[in-house]
Amino acid sequence: MDKKRIIVGISGASGMPLALELLRQLQGRREQIETHLLYTDGAVQTLRKETGQKPEQLEKMADYVHDNHNIGAAPASGSFRTDGMIVVPCSMKTVAGIVSGYSDDLLLRAADVTLKECRRLVLVTRECPLSSIHLRNMYELSRMGAVILPPVLSFYNHPDSLDCCVKHITGKILDLFGLEGEDYHRWEGMDEDFCM
Ligand SMILES: Cc1cc2nc3c(=O)[nH]c(=O)nc-3n(C[C@H](O)[C@H](O)[C@H](O)COP(=O)(O)O)c2cc1C
Repeated sequence: MDKKRIIVGISGASGMPLALELLRQLQGRREQIETHLLYTDGAVQTLRKETGQKPEQLEKMADYVHDNHNIGAAPASGSFRTDGMIVVPCSMKTVAGIVSGYSDDLLLRAADVTLKECRRLVLVTRECPLSSIHLRNMYELSRMGAVILPPVLSFYNHPDSLDCCVKHITGKILDLFGLEGEDYHRWEGMDEDFCM
């Protein structure tokens, strides 16, 4: 069986634990999935601020790492076949770059290619609150075929830690690639007792 090939882009929005958890879960399925990691300069800053980690620690979790300034790397071309791309977390600057086709780094180019090849593009967009510019850009991207998956809290699964919340979002991302997330609790319907 051929491996799935997934591009993971990390940009400088808040939410580095989401990127780390996604990479960890993908790494645990190396026999099934090949990962290609790209990260922006902004991501390096946010990673340090939020987790105290260096990019080398991210890099160890991926099969291939591409320099975000190398616009000639494999993910820059549509002939490099992939099963899609996840940008997690996805900053509003990166959203703006993708929606306008302004592909001046590898992450933006790879997202542009993913859209033009009609492949799965999942954007874990993060900002709070959202301005009209952010909302308009995300709406346009959704119309273009991207999946907008902001890391929104869920309470029906009774999370008792931040780790539960991170795993829930990770499960939602993986679900879009036909993969089952670890400790991902699906909604199984409401008990009849709850219904009025
Ligand atoms: C600690 C920290 C947290 C940030 N959080 C966000 C965020 O949640 N959303 C966002 O759009 N930008 C956020 N930013 C700003 C982006 O990092 C900045 O706009 C950067 O230029 C994005 O570039 P990139 O998309 O190429 O990584 C944050 C910056 C820092 C330092």
